[in-house]
Amino acid sequence: MRDKLEYQKDGWYFAQCGRDLETLVAEELQDMQVQQVKTVRAGVHFQAEQEVFYRVNYCSRIASRILAPLVTFRCASENDLYKKGYNFEWEKILDTAHTFAIVSHVSNSAITHSQYAALKLKDAIADRFRAKYGKRPSVDRENPHILLHLNVQDNRAIISLDASGGPLYRRGYRMQGGEAPMQETLAAAIIRLSGWEGKLLLYDPMCGSGTLLAEALLHACHIPSCFRRQYFGFERLPDYDLTLWRKVKKNSDSLICEIPDDLIAGSDIEPSVLKMASANLSLITSGEKVKLIQCDFRQLPELKNYCIVCNLPYGVRQGEKEALKLLYKEFGDFLKR
Ligand SMILES: C[S@@+](CC[C@H](N)C(=O)[O-])C[C@H]1O[C@@H](n2cnc3c(N)ncnc32)[C@H](O)[C@@H]1O
Repeated sequence: MRDKLEYQKDGWYFAQCGRDLETLVAEELQDMQVQQVKTVRAGVHFQAEQEVFYRVNYCSRIASRILAPLVTFRCASENDLYKKGYNFEWEKILDTAHTFAIVSHVSNSAITHSQYAALKLKDAIADRFRAKYGKRPSVDRENPHILLHLNVQDNRAIISLDASGGPLYRRGYRMQGGEAPMQETLAAAIIRLSGWEGKLLLYDPMCGSGTLLAEALLHACHIPSCFRRQYFGFERLPDYDLTLWRKVKKNSDSLICEIPDDLIAGSDIEPSVLKMASANLSLITSGEKVKLIQCDFRQLPELKNYCIVCNLPYGVRQGEKEALKLLYKEFGDFLKR
């Protein structure tokens, strides 16, 4: 490659995350030995060696996606975007037999519409391939070979490759979810915030399809969050190092350990969601050790010296909100017992 890709210059990547989770993600990345972190709204810029970058993709529990910046440039007009998009050497990561998609976000810039920006970049990529090879790669929004992120802020554009290959909350263990399943990355954030380190027993008295229990299990057993993921976007990068990735995976997997029976348990009033929780947990190592019972939390015996985590029902309609006031009060009483 004539020019280095942006991330190859100095090893800076970007971890996207939910709002207010930035500090937790930064702490998690530091635990994984990244060199530097800079938190911004809904994400963390971090600098890492390739090995650590692979580990972050495989093991981060709270980040929702890892981006590898390919190119940054001044983008004060649609013409700037088209020109840079046309001149970039896309053939290093894409060919006419494979598909791509673009997610775009613009703010405080001359280009004001995200979808229009994505369309302009898509045209530039397609025109470049057509001019060079007489045909172009197709767009596939559902399952693209490469997913690009275009971010234009203050007339500065960054085009990145989605190095995770799809959102990291898709762990691969949730085959079924109840009515209001929690996002896995948020559940992982709650486990981290609780400070639970697998010493106390952990209990979720309204466990639903078991997301908090599953994330607690991954944490306690040191199971990488992407242990079931078959493919990562970083495999499409031109300097992808299969030997290094295998080493990272092997080292991370070697830390997986067993937990004592009943360290993690939960209950729910609704039998159908407990079946889902059981099915989901069965896809994780030691999942069979998580005890699940059908019970109204008001009937539970006293839980002394437990770490209690819970995602309470939340109503949207006014009637539901009224009914929930009592439930929240009763839950408060339950915690004080
Ligand atoms: C927001 S959902 C929990 C979702 C869960 N975190 C997940 O990821 O699937 C709230 C759960 O509380 C349960 N629930 C409501 N009232 C309950 C009660 N009195 N006792 C026990 N569980 C209750 C519901 O059945 C529902 O599964």
